Amino acid sequence: MFPTERPRRLRRTPALRALVAETSLRPSDFVAPLFVAEGRHDPTPILSLPGHFQHTVSSLLDEVKALRHAGVNSVILFGVPERKDEVGSGAWDPNGIAQVALRAVRDEFGDEVVLMADLCLDEYTSHGHCGVLRADGTVDNDATIELYAKTAIAQAQAGAAVVAPSGMMDGQVGAIRRALDAAGHQDTVIMAYAAKYASGLYGPFREAVGVEIAGGGDRRGYQQDYANRREALREARADVAQGADIVMVKPAMTYLDVVADLSRELDVPLCAYHVSGEYAMVKAAGQNGWIDANAVAIEQLTAVRRAGADFVLTYFAREVAEELGR
Ligand code: PBG
Repeated sequence: MFPTERPRRLRRTPALRALVAETSLRPSDFVAPLFVAEGRHDPTPILSLPGHFQHTVSSLLDEVKALRHAGVNSVILFGVPERKDEVGSGAWDPNGIAQVALRAVRDEFGDEVVLMADLCLDEYTSHGHCGVLRADGTVDNDATIELYAKTAIAQAQAGAAVVAPSGMMDGQVGAIRRALDAAGHQDTVIMAYAAKYASGLYGPFREAVGVEIAGGGDRRGYQQDYANRREALREARADVAQGADIVMVKPAMTYLDVVADLSRELDVPLCAYHVSGEYAMVKAAGQNGWIDANAVAIEQLTAVRRAGADFVLTYFAREVAEELGR
């Protein structure tokens, strides 16, 4: 007649709830994505990512300092070059904006910051694809991974502790590992965007880096189809076999099943990327007063950890870290 199961007993006080919480969320669980633009005098706000900027090198250093103050010690840099070309040569130019910014962060913070570099060509190519094109307009996989290898070396030389290939070319992790090792960068970590889906949630990011895919094209020829779950395991296993030290699932909220699969099946650290569109949706609803943005952000980021991710790349890194510290 009366219930024998009384789970509510454990929810009675905040202290009890904290004691039995299965999942934690701390500032050290976050990696902050940061954009740095070439040839600017002032940081430029990114309208679709409220609170984020295309940084100058000097405002980038200030932001890293503020993140550290909030307890976030990991950042991933994206370069926004002044000029683009067919092959994306700015990506591996030792004086390209990403390399300049990596050196600056490295010089200022050394190993106190886990300095990551997104490794892709799309910010640097005139056509906006993540690789070089064949005459028929399709992306040439094997020619592209050679350029990723060159880019990895440039990034490692500039001080990146972690390179994060995000182009979804077959064999990219192996090509990068071999090139890094041959150049004496055995300690450079590879964090592979292993299961990256062709998502509608990258819109604000493309504004942030000024990427438009030529001819209204898309990335379905190389990023994964969101109808597929098992394929993610195949991709991630291939990356681990090629030498990935960390694997990533991207986006986050719509792929928690994939996060759970990979955390169960693999034994490397796993992260998820709470992407630009996920941030923008929460921010926009928050700005309208329809939801409490920080509360929803904490709920979502906790869910990503609960599904099995060890850490999260998120545009909320600073605000949520500050909120958690209050
Ligand atoms: C590719 C890259 C993208 C993102 C990270 N790396 C864009 C894409 O695949 O089109 C998206 C990140 C985000 O939306 O926050 N260099």
